[in-house]
Amino acid sequence: MHHIGVIGSGLMGSGIAQVAAQAGLQVGLNDANADALHSALARICTGLERLRDRGRLEGDVDTILSRIHLTTDLQEFAQSDVVIEAISENEDLKCTLFAQLDGICAPRTILASNTSSISITNLAAATHRPKCVVGMHFFNPVPAMQLVEVTRGTATSDHTVAKITQLGERLGKTVVHAADTPGFIVNRILVPMLVEAIFVYQEHAASREDIDQAVRLGLGHPMGPLTLADLIGLDTLLAICDVYYQEFGDPKYRAPILLRRYVTAGWLGRKTGRGFYEYPAR
Ligand code: NAI
Repeated sequence: MHHIGVIGSGLMGSGIAQVAAQAGLQVGLNDANADALHSALARICTGLERLRDRGRLEGDVDTILSRIHLTTDLQEFAQSDVVIEAISENEDLKCTLFAQLDGICAPRTILASNTSSISITNLAAATHRPKCVVGMHFFNPVPAMQLVEVTRGTATSDHTVAKITQLGERLGKTVVHAADTPGFIVNRILVPMLVEAIFVYQEHAASREDIDQAVRLGLGHPMGPLTLADLIGLDTLLAICDVYYQEFGDPKYRAPILLRRYVTAGWLGRKTGRGFYEYPAR
C-alpha cells in the first residue's frame, strides 16, 4: 500500500514524490500522461544523484527510488492515508479529480491540493468529505525550498490540519498555516510586488535592468521582479492577478495592461523565449 499518493508528476508533483520517498514513505506517483511519469522518475533520479554527489543525501539513491511506484491507475490510492494533488492549475480539472478520488478513496483518506490560487473550499465542495480536504502548498523547487503553507477550507477539520502539518514536518519542511484566501500568504504578498514592478516599467519610470538591479541590491532579493515574473510565466501571473481581482474586488489587484498585452502576444516569459527579457534558444 502507498502511504501517500501524488497526482500530477510535473515540476511540483515529482519534487513532492522525491521528498516523501527521502523521508521513508511509500509513494504512488500518478499522471494522466505516462510519458510525464517516466520524465518525472528521470528528474528525481538526477536530483538524488546530485544530492549524493554533494554529500547531502541520507540513504542511497536506489533504495529511495524503490519507494516510488509509478501508476496511471487512481484505484491504487484506495487505501492511501493522504493523496496530494499537483495537476495543472485549472479549477474544472481539479474538481473533477477530487470528485473521482472521493469515490475511490477510503473515507479516512485526506485529499490535499498543492494549488497556488484555487479555493480549497471550492475543491472540497466537489467531494462528500469537506472535513478531509486541505491545501498543502509547496514551493519550487520542492527539494530545496523549506516552506509549506497548510491552508484550511471553510469545513476542513482540526484533525486534517494536524495530520497534514505532521506530514509536512516529516518531509523536513517548516509549516505555516493560512486561511483559504487567494494567494494564501506568500503569493498574496509576492504577486502585488511583481505587479508593481510591471507598472513601474509600463510607466517608463526605469529600465527593466534597473528595476531588477534595484530590487536585488536594495531589498536583498536573489532575483529581480521582472526576471522572476518571466520565470513564473506571465500567463500564470496574469491568471493569478485576475483571480485576486475577481475574489477581492479591490482595484489594487488589477493587472497592468502591458502584462495582458504580452500574454496576448504569446510573450509568456522564459518558457516561450520572450517576456520582459529575451531568451534565445540554446
Ligand atoms: P506541470 O504542468 O509541471 O505538471 C502538471 C502535471 O499534471 C502534468 O504532468 C500533467 O500531465 C498532469 N495532469 C494534468 N491533469 C491531470 C489529471 N487529471 N490527472 C493526472 N495528471 C494530470 O505543473 P506544476 O508547475 O507542477 O504545477 C502543479 C500544481 O502546483 C498547480 O496547481 C500549480 O499552481 C502548483 N504550484 C506550482 C508552482 C510552480 O512554481 N510551478 C509552485 C507551487 C504550486
